Amino acid sequence: MADQKLMEKIVSLCKRRGIIFPSSEIYGGFANSYTYGPLGSEIKKNIKDIWWQRFVRNREDMVGIDGPILLHPKTWEASGHVAGFNDQLIDCKSCRARLRADHLVEEALHIDCEGLEDKDVSKLIAENDIKCPKCGIKDFTEVRKFNLMFSTEMAKTGEDSLAYLRPETAQAIFLEYKNVIDSTRVKLPFGIGQIGKAFRNEITPGNFIFRVIEFEQMEIEYFIHEKDWKELFEKWFDEMKQWCTDIGLPVENCHEYEHAEEKLSHYSKRTVDIEFDFPFGKKELYGLAYRTDFDLSQHEKFSGQKLRWRDEGGEPFIPHVLEPTFGVDRSVLAAICAAYTEEKLEDGSERVVLKMKPIIAPVKVAVFPLMKKDGMPEKAHEILKKLQIFGAVQYDDGGAIGKRYRRHDEIGTPVCVTVDYDTLEDDTVTIRDRDSMKQERVNMKELVNILNERYFE
Ligand code: GAP
Repeated sequence: MADQKLMEKIVSLCKRRGIIFPSSEIYGGFANSYTYGPLGSEIKKNIKDIWWQRFVRNREDMVGIDGPILLHPKTWEASGHVAGFNDQLIDCKSCRARLRADHLVEEALHIDCEGLEDKDVSKLIAENDIKCPKCGIKDFTEVRKFNLMFSTEMAKTGEDSLAYLRPETAQAIFLEYKNVIDSTRVKLPFGIGQIGKAFRNEITPGNFIFRVIEFEQMEIEYFIHEKDWKELFEKWFDEMKQWCTDIGLPVENCHEYEHAEEKLSHYSKRTVDIEFDFPFGKKELYGLAYRTDFDLSQHEKFSGQKLRWRDEGGEPFIPHVLEPTFGVDRSVLAAICAAYTEEKLEDGSERVVLKMKPIIAPVKVAVFPLMKKDGMPEKAHEILKKLQIFGAVQYDDGGAIGKRYRRHDEIGTPVCVTVDYDTLEDDTVTIRDRDSMKQERVNMKELVNILNERYFE
């Protein structure tokens, strides 16, 4: 069940606390583009860092690259994006709303439009008296194809100057397959991982950062022998499910969605998504696709270069590919939605708390001086410096201690440390746990070890 109110609260919290802002607000805003604020950029970086550590650095069968956003334009002809990366667009002539024609029909008639030609969708709209959901009038253009790639112009002369902003990070990996096998000691099966921006001129972006025109992907192209694809597909899917748990997404809110054969992308022989229960409904979070040898074969054809693998003593062949793909922005959104909790406390008051895993939390520890005098701020700063080994930490001396706790509950700070008069006497501090709200007196000498063991190990 969609919970619009909950989503509004999350969006408002994100703006208020510097997690995510609508971008370009001083110019009246720019639709569907967002800025990760001081806290949001920490959450995003935490997610990217643990992904890279886990899937690239911690595995002997993986290497990473960081490719460009602008690739040779032939890339997108070879990959099929120029011909096939289209949505069905329709314009309302009355209010000028731009809509996904297939979605319009699907919502009005509760049928599936997958695979229908543009003219068939136009016919369904006309015959069923479907009206514009924005203005209620029925005055549409014909349905037409709209390519989702953003194009741009290069300052080149004498050559084709058209270039595209990449709509997926994957292709940069396929283009460097040969360089990677020539320059490293990888052995099949092996994977190449990459984190980076992708751009799609979505007709109907929305739901906050769920569907945006500029977003980040964390993708792996995992090169294999064809015979192993089924077994390795299962292994990768298990890895992806484990990742969801490890970033704090409850198992019961993550669902498998197997794409029907007739709905697979042009490159895929099998795709299974992980869907997540967002407040606006169950939607795609990640995907795992078996891309066969489609991409490398296409790039061989279009580039004239051999993109093969040869096992010792064997014939050269084009490896097959499994692709686990993870959206960064959807990871951030899912982690925030899963963590958002409203609690009624024993004294009748309420608190909002982001129960995020400490590895994702934007502020790892907050340090408070009880008073802004008598050496307490200096001591608190001194402690803060020592705790920077855990990541971003914050000094906070604004308002009553209770208010400071609430402020840090709202942004998911797992633990707060308070310096008071006793600290100056006996070198002890109070630590307060976000989830249980329990407070405990600990010796400063043991502070780093205690926090490490309880929160960050
Ligand atoms: N290389 C395969 C690929 O790009 P995809 O399912 O189109 O597959 C992969 O995209 C992931 O990228 C999605 O599962 C989602 O997490 C994220 N993603 C796709 N389009 C997005 C958009 N418009 N805004 C935010 N994230 C998006």
